[in-house]
Amino acid sequence: MKTLEELVKDLGGATKRFGVLSESNTRQLTVIAQNADVAVGDLFLMPCNRGQERIYVFRTTEYANIMNRTLDMNDVARNKLTMPGSYLAKDLTDETLLQLIGIVVGYAERESSGWLFHKPRRLPEHLTDVYKVTDDPKVAEVVRIILRSQLGEEGLYIGDLLAGESRLKDVPVYLPPYALSHHLGVFGRTGCGKSNSLMVFLRSIMEHNRKVAAGKVAGPPCSILAIDPHDEFQTWHSKVGGADGIRGIVNGYSATEKKALAEPFYYLTAREVDEASTPLERSLKISLGDITPDDLASVVEMTDQQISFATLFYSNQGGEWISGGAGLNISNAEAIKEQGEFESFHIGTIEGVIRRLSFTRSGNNRIFTKLDPSAGHNYQSTLPDIICAMEQGRVLTVDTTLMSEMEQFLLMTIVARVLFSLRKALRSAGTADRIEKEIRSSLGNAPDTGQGGMKSLADELVKRLESGELPYTDGDTLLQPDQLPFINVVIEEAPSVLNPQRLRFGSVFRDISRQGRKFGIGLTVISQQVTAIDEGILTQINTELIMALGNDQERKSAIKNASADLTGFERELQVMGKGQTIATASYRDIPLPVQAPNYDLI
Ligand SMILES: Nc1ncnc2c1ncn2[C@@H]1O[C@H](COP(=O)(O)OP(=O)(O)OP(=O)(O)O)[C@@H](O)[C@H]1O
Ligand SMILES: [Mg+2]
Repeated sequence: MKTLEELVKDLGGATKRFGVLSESNTRQLTVIAQNADVAVGDLFLMPCNRGQERIYVFRTTEYANIMNRTLDMNDVARNKLTMPGSYLAKDLTDETLLQLIGIVVGYAERESSGWLFHKPRRLPEHLTDVYKVTDDPKVAEVVRIILRSQLGEEGLYIGDLLAGESRLKDVPVYLPPYALSHHLGVFGRTGCGKSNSLMVFLRSIMEHNRKVAAGKVAGPPCSILAIDPHDEFQTWHSKVGGADGIRGIVNGYSATEKKALAEPFYYLTAREVDEASTPLERSLKISLGDITPDDLASVVEMTDQQISFATLFYSNQGGEWISGGAGLNISNAEAIKEQGEFESFHIGTIEGVIRRLSFTRSGNNRIFTKLDPSAGHNYQSTLPDIICAMEQGRVLTVDTTLMSEMEQFLLMTIVARVLFSLRKALRSAGTADRIEKEIRSSLGNAPDTGQGGMKSLADELVKRLESGELPYTDGDTLLQPDQLPFINVVIEEAPSVLNPQRLRFGSVFRDISRQGRKFGIGLTVISQQVTAIDEGILTQINTELIMALGNDQERKSAIKNASADLTGFERELQVMGKGQTIATASYRDIPLPVQAPNYDLI
């Protein structure tokens, strides 16, 4: 472990000193420096020997050009600054110096286990030397040593530390894989680089999974279900001569890696797909038998009467409740009412539920398939494979460009609900011999009592449990959610899904936002506006990537909801460029400014 003296040497020693600390209190510090090019957000290091060996990290929030003719501590600081080096004489004759104002971000202290970072509870001593953080590799190494716990050592790369305007290419910033089992927010106005940052992030998640599969890093792997309303992630900018997206990464896999990390598909779309020429792409199909009354109620407004009718009818008909011969069809409405069980319901209630299901019959329904085995419509659904993919550690993008909002929202609701119920089932099963029963019952399928529920899905999942595609058991041992992949559902254009009106009582997204982390399931909310997202979801987000925001109200909202104190970053939020982010997280002590690389150039 390097000593303070050695680190100072790496910073360039006395000749590289940038300035001297003149005034300090717990709120702000003033540094007097030679006249040089400085930007708001520049980082500085202040080695200090008072008590312990420490290095303080200082961030400029303001600066001013000053003349060499003021009194008090600044004079003393200037004297110390100007004494040894003759090259400083020029500054003196010109009488131009800089006064930097900023905050102590924190300090690293040399302890027996290494350099440990602390929140700013102390101040450096008077007249401490100040060094500027530059992209010099030796300086970068010092930064990596003292900020190790804040930068993350390995995991999911999101970009490089940003000091003022310079991206420190040798100081990468990582999120821990478990961050995906909590909730992330990515906020920034249009064109600020949200999608680009997400591409960088997806790539590092795939890289992490590759290393886990090769036994190079410890698992579990990470699973992403990325809802992609612009169909960007698969091919990124390849159509206009830029980098290929997820497709490019998967094409670079060896046959073994494809099998372990991408099969049976990494891309789903509502379009028809020629599976022979594009083997790992699939047309998305969801069976009408995969929809439950709860799903319906969480995407369209339903009265209590309609919900209780739908629930009763579902428990009676199971997965065929929508498209079976005796299912909810307008020509069946009268006949249904005449059945003893449903007599008490008003015909208008029954018809109301049927109307709410009309999207499944309309011409623009692209993804839903009928379930009515007696008429030859067997269970046809991509859902079991999606679930298995998520439980094996996969990055899966879903192109939703051709899907109606209703289809998109139902798809997300169903996938999220099933994953969530299965993980709960793992918890309640306790032992491997009980898992089949728990899976069935979590899907409302209880053969003993004649409850159908999502029987078709349950049958498929049980088959996959036996084949090992649903990796819930290891020999006789039942795995628990914390041994399975961290699952994250990425929602681009989140306000259309996660706005307060949409998130009615009973929405699975609300449940996930509150309880998901217990089961290893998180959400990533990507939005141009912070204010458009449901308050309940916002308060549960604990990793925020805040990019350039459109107006003051959005910035205030971002600051209010951030997991770390953003005092001192207000100005920066106004001047952030493309791909620049302030990353805050509840598991880190300080906000970090980060610059994502341009994905086209990686
Ligand atoms: N880190 C970066 N470095 C260089 N260029 C970038 C960076 N991030 C984004 N860009 C460029 O800026 C443009 C817009 O980026 P991007 O599509 O990621 O923005 P966005 O925030 O997702 O916008 P929208 O809200 O409209 O979806 C793209 O052409 C992209 O190549
Ligand atoms: Mg975008």
